[in-house]
Amino acid sequence: MDGNGRWAAKRFMPRGVGHKAGVDSLVNVVKACSDRGIPYLTVFAFSSENWKRPEEEVSGLMSLLIVALSKHLIKLRSDGVRIRVVGDVAQVSDKVRQALADAERQTAENSRLVLTVAFNYGGRWDIVQACRKALDAGVRSDAMTEEVLSDFMAMSYAPDPDLFIRTGGEVRLSNFLLWQSAYAELYFTDCLWPDFDSSELDKALHEYARRERRFGGVNVDPSESRGAV
Ligand code: FPP
Repeated sequence: MDGNGRWAAKRFMPRGVGHKAGVDSLVNVVKACSDRGIPYLTVFAFSSENWKRPEEEVSGLMSLLIVALSKHLIKLRSDGVRIRVVGDVAQVSDKVRQALADAERQTAENSRLVLTVAFNYGGRWDIVQACRKALDAGVRSDAMTEEVLSDFMAMSYAPDPDLFIRTGGEVRLSNFLLWQSAYAELYFTDCLWPDFDSSELDKALHEYARRERRFGGVNVDPSESRGAV
């Protein structure tokens, strides 16, 4: 969800205003995905690297998360959205951790759309924590396979993403879902996240539909797509 800061700067406003607009955009995109029958949406809300931002911006993002959850949770719950959180939440404040855990608990019965919020997440962190958990579970090196390790990855409950969208003009993965995106179709757009709406989502989905997916083979089985973004 890149481009909040630039969106605000274009309007001569502080970066926090852009993040706030980013939350509104996220709420709209969740609804649009739900309307289109997309069962999994995963968003990069705070990366392991985002701690390097000015203290004021980091604490603003933390407060925004709490405010956004309290503002939108009831609606998300009644819309059938299940919230799940992935990332190293042991490193965030008790208040933020509790807000995230509460959102997960309150929506645990839902299944229309699984919204995974990656918070203090990094793809390399995920691979390392999966290896650690596998070793702790007693998996021996000769039993270690891609399938076995996948079961220990933070998003083992979800299919791998079919479509990876990055807004804001940068053309890189920035340590997001590295393991899971091995065969994801990548879509980069200059659109700044607060401007990313249902029509921008449709552009991405149309582009996705044009792509020929081979998963390293020759023939494509359309049923391989699970509709995860
Ligand atoms: C990147 O834009 C965006 C972020 C680091 C934060 C994304 C967070 C939100 C959209 C808030 C919603 C999340 C939750 C869960 C409340 P940037 O600041 O790097 O923008 P720039 O590249 O234009 O500077």
